[in-house]
Amino acid sequence: MRQKLVLMKVCFEYAKQIAEYRQEFLDCGDSMDGCGSLRRIEDPFEYIQRSIDCENLETMGKDRIEKGRVPATQFMLIRETDNRLIGMIQIRHYFNDYLSKFGGHIGYSVRPSERRKGYAKEMLKMALPYCKEIGLDKVMITCIDSNVASEKTICSCGGVYESTIYEPDEKVNLKRFWISL
Ligand SMILES: CC(C)(COP(=O)(O)OP(=O)(O)OC[C@H]1O[C@@H](n2cnc3c(N)ncnc32)[C@H](O)[C@@H]1OP(=O)(O)O)[C@@H](O)C(=O)NCCC(=O)NCCS
Repeated sequence: MRQKLVLMKVCFEYAKQIAEYRQEFLDCGDSMDGCGSLRRIEDPFEYIQRSIDCENLETMGKDRIEKGRVPATQFMLIRETDNRLIGMIQIRHYFNDYLSKFGGHIGYSVRPSERRKGYAKEMLKMALPYCKEIGLDKVMITCIDSNVASEKTICSCGGVYESTIYEPDEKVNLKRFWISL
């Protein structure tokens, strides 16, 4: 990939672009994976503050801790040439019961208008050193068994298939992969 890309934590400077990113997904009815609460929270400033708060147990709020949520870091993939928000990737710091079975450590998405240009592969690759930094020595990533693009993304970063598991809420089969860091 020749373009210069930067992985950065969500910040208020990108509020407008985050709102546009969200709208692009809503317009095409696509799954907003790896964006935390972006689908639910319309106000980008509220979303960004929530994402920042959720990075630490101390700030994520009693209600979320009681629901068994875990701290997570929300990154954006930015293309430097035009400062465009290309993708979002969320790193969950450790497992709860749901994540250990179905959700995995990492979720991500690339905005529909920027797909099939190799950005997902690059974004996942760029996120792995951070996973190591926070103490993980391997990460699990899952995808719906028909999501060829995500499966190829995971495998391009060294993902090794482990098993397929049925997720009863969404009624889908999820493939589970592990990447050693
Ligand atoms: C999955 C997703 C992140 C891929 O993003 P992307 O930037 O288009 O992916 P890349 O361009 O890096 O392509 C990755 C691989 O998938 C392939 N691919 C991408 N889109 C594809 C498609 N629609 N059908 C088949 N293969 C596809 C690419 O050719 C590439 O494979 P290759 O290495 O053999 O060439 C994007 O489609 C997305 O955001 N989907 C909705 C959210 C989602 O499914 N997230 C993953 C949840 S587990």
